[in-house]
Amino acid sequence: MLSSAEFIQYSLELNLFFARIMKEHSFFIEGGFTPRDSNLAQQADGFKLQFEALLADTIALSDGIISPDVAMSGEIVTQYTFEAECASQFYTGVSLNSRLTQAEAGLGATPDFAPAPVPELEQQVLELNDRAIALTSALIDFKDTLLNAVLSCRLFTVNFPLLIDHITREARLYRCMLAGFQNHERMDSPRDFLEQQIFWNRIMNEHALFIRGLLDPTEQELITNANNFGNEFNLLTQESAAAMDRTIPLPQLTAQSLDATVRIRDFKATGTKGLLECRIRSIILPLLADHTLREANHFIRLLSSCGR
Ligand SMILES: [Fe+2]
Ligand SMILES: [Fe+2]
Repeated sequence: MLSSAEFIQYSLELNLFFARIMKEHSFFIEGGFTPRDSNLAQQADGFKLQFEALLADTIALSDGIISPDVAMSGEIVTQYTFEAECASQFYTGVSLNSRLTQAEAGLGATPDFAPAPVPELEQQVLELNDRAIALTSALIDFKDTLLNAVLSCRLFTVNFPLLIDHITREARLYRCMLAGFQNHERMDSPRDFLEQQIFWNRIMNEHALFIRGLLDPTEQELITNANNFGNEFNLLTQESAAAMDRTIPLPQLTAQSLDATVRIRDFKATGTKGLLECRIRSIILPLLADHTLREANHFIRLLSSCGR
C-alpha cells in the first residue's frame, strides 16, 4: 500500500508527465485533419484545452513535492520544449499554452518528501486523478473512433494509423496507472517493472519507425539510423517478452534497454535541435520530436530507478 505522501507524490509526478503527453496527442490529432473534418479538429482542440487545464492544476499542487529524479529527468520538459512549442504553433496556427512550460521548468523538487498528513492535499489529488481518469477515458474513445474510421477508409489524416494506435496505448497506460494509484497500489513489483519495459521498448521501436517514415527520402543517413533503432528495439521488445517467461534474466535485459534508450534519446535530442535549426528535411513537427524525446527520458528514469 502507498502511504499518503507517496500517493500524493507519485500521482502528481504521473500527471505532470502524462497530462502534457495527452494534450500534445490532442494537438497532433488536431493538426492532422483535412479541411473537410474541421469539426473533428474542433473536438481535438477541446481535449487539448481540457488537458491544459488539468496540467495547470497539477502544476499548482506540485511545487516542492516532486522528487529530484523526476524534476531532473527531462520527462516533464526539456531544454527544447518551449522553442518546439513556438515553432509548432507557428507552423499549424493551433495555439499552445507555453506559460505552462515555463511554470514546469521552474518547479521545485524535494529530496525526501514526507509531510505530516495533509488531508486537504490528499483529497485534492484524489479529485485530480478522478478528473484525469474521466478525461483520458473520453480521449481514448475519441482516438478509437478515429482509428476505426481511418481503417475503414472513412477518414483521412496525416497521422499514421500506427501512430493513432500508439497514442491510444499510451493513454490506456496512463489511465491504468491512475486507477492503481487511486487504490493506493504500489505497482513496483518485478512483474510490474517488466510490463513497463515491454510497453516502453515497443514504444521506442515505434518512435524509430515514425521518424524513419516522416523524414524526407533524401535524409538517407538519418533514415538508416532510425531504421537501425527500429530493429534494435524490435529485438528488445521480443526479449522483454521472453524475460516474462524467465528465458532472459531481468537485470541483463534492463541494462540492454537502458543502453539502447540512452542512445535513441541522444538521437532524438539531436534531431529535435536539427529541426529547430532548420537543418533536417522532414514532415516532423518539432513538438513531436521533443515529445518522443521526453518519453525516452521517462523510460530512462524508470530503467535507472529499478537498479536501486
Ligand atoms: Fe506520446
Ligand atoms: Fe510515444
